[in-house]
Amino acid sequence: DWTPGNVIADQVAAIREQVGDARVICGLSGGVDSSVAAALVQKAVGDQLTCVFVDHGLLRSGEAEQVEQEFVASTGVNLVVVDAQERFLEALAGVSDPETKRKIIGREFIRVFEQAARDVVAAAGAHDEEVKFLVQGTLYPDVVESGGGEGAANIKSHHNVGGLPDDLAFDLVEPLRTLFKDEVRAVGLELGVPEGIVWRQPFPGPGLGIRIVGEVTKDRLDTLREADLIARDELTKAGLDRDIWQCPVVLLADVRSVGVQGDGRTYGHPIVLRPVSSEDAMTADWTRVPYDVLAAISTRITNEVKDVNRVVLDVTSKPPGTIEWE
Ligand code: XMP
Repeated sequence: DWTPGNVIADQVAAIREQVGDARVICGLSGGVDSSVAAALVQKAVGDQLTCVFVDHGLLRSGEAEQVEQEFVASTGVNLVVVDAQERFLEALAGVSDPETKRKIIGREFIRVFEQAARDVVAAAGAHDEEVKFLVQGTLYPDVVESGGGEGAANIKSHHNVGGLPDDLAFDLVEPLRTLFKDEVRAVGLELGVPEGIVWRQPFPGPGLGIRIVGEVTKDRLDTLREADLIARDELTKAGLDRDIWQCPVVLLADVRSVGVQGDGRTYGHPIVLRPVSSEDAMTADWTRVPYDVLAAISTRITNEVKDVNRVVLDVTSKPPGTIEWE
């Protein structure tokens, strides 16, 4: 019988058998897969697990808090938070090219994670071999399509926590390997993972760094975070979260247009809304969001977000457009 409870019981037994009394490390991203995988391993081996969350400063409003507070409170995991915001901003300074941004973010992420893993080993006072396992939230479709995952991997360089150096060799613990996304969600809910995480829409590893067309700066990130929060808020209020696969909100930082606000002329940036409907992100169509919802988002963003004087809607399917702009 497939029930979330049975999956949990089976996986807990399998994880215990696999790791014995070794230490285990898990990189959390704030997404559903790594969160549910971590919660399962926590249930199986408790304090043997240390989770590492790299805050690269490219997350949306509230996402770091969701991991640091809600997730920890509901699962009891040991969490190490690495505040790497400055480091990522410095590494990204002056860079506008999308692929270069992706490579920099991926590279810095691995360096920071690697150091954190070494610190966990040291803090445990352990011999290197004792921290032996790395948890990954690999799902069944990733296994089947191994080496790909997103299908668009050759079009854009995707990043996740793969590719660690040899001297930091881990065996993988992949408790979600037999599951589809909806099953992972059911297991997560059963384990008490917060709903905001279980139902989170897909969000790319490089985060807001690839939703600013142009150079990534602190001010631009703050602007985009505010606009994104408003869009998410209004879509949620309209009850559209489950109809929309995801809705990237993009700041065209290198584009300016003339507007009129309050007493005078403005020369600000456009925000792009990119709501899409999809089954698996390989293909997508733009979601026909009701006009009144779009109007509410547009009015609030232009009223509330400094430097933004225009909101535009992306009406391109995939292909030919990708879901993200970079
Ligand atoms: P595209 O833009 O290629 O995106 O149509 C397809 C799906 O993949 C997500 N995406 C990523 N996910 N790391 C990820 O984990 C990445 O580097 C990355 N780039 C894109 C995107 O949000 C969409 O769901």
